[in-house]
Amino acid sequence: MIEPDFLRTTRTAYDAMAERYAELFADGLEEFPLDRAMLAVFADFVRTDGGGPVADLGCGPGHVTSLLDSLGLDVSGVDLSPEMVAIARAARPDLRFEVGSMTALDLPDDSLGGVLARYSIIHTPPEQLPRVFTEFHRVLASGGRLMLAFQAHDDPSELAESFDHKVALAYRWSPDRVCDLLAETGFTETARLVRAPLQDERPFPHAHLLLSKN
Ligand SMILES: C[S@@+](CC[C@H](N)C(=O)[O-])C[C@H]1O[C@@H](n2cnc3c(N)ncnc32)[C@H](O)[C@@H]1O
Repeated sequence: MIEPDFLRTTRTAYDAMAERYAELFADGLEEFPLDRAMLAVFADFVRTDGGGPVADLGCGPGHVTSLLDSLGLDVSGVDLSPEMVAIARAARPDLRFEVGSMTALDLPDDSLGGVLARYSIIHTPPEQLPRVFTEFHRVLASGGRLMLAFQAHDDPSELAESFDHKVALAYRWSPDRVCDLLAETGFTETARLVRAPLQDERPFPHAHLLLSKN
């Protein structure tokens, strides 16, 4: 199958800056207490459900995969960028990291207890987002938990607004419209957090959404 341009462009861009990205997050999520809290809630739900396998999709250098491991999850990472995956494997040789795309996952149906996509849907063109959410739904077991994090905007008349991201063309999303799309795909919203930007971030709100597969 011919690979869409946006995947090639995103991979090339992250390959080129993978080392710098990893250095930026060498301290983990120390400066992001609300993000850590939402990840802890996600982990708690997955563990309470029985602790099925979790995929960190668009895992980058694996710092959040590692955090989820420390929270007791059976977690592995997938990323489009081979350079990111190489860095993640070097940092945590005991965890599984694979090159792959969330648009067509090499995972069986109904196989996961949880999916995390933290700032990794942001390079997906809006018309491709339903395909990605259908993949998340396919690989999750019934009742499985989905957590998404992304830069947000507050105009519910628009699903997406493009913005000039440092690495590659990116989109920030309306949390309401994303939840509508996820409901159409077969997910139920459990909770959401929309936080203000931190001092060094662009002036956009950041959303965390927690859902479960119907
Ligand atoms: C902004 S980084 C986020 C990395 C990490 N999740 C975090 O929270 O820091 C976006 C990552 O998503 C990956 N990515 C983007 N589109 C993807 C896709 N279609 N499938 C898998 N990974 C993708 C990129 O290669 C990059 O590593």
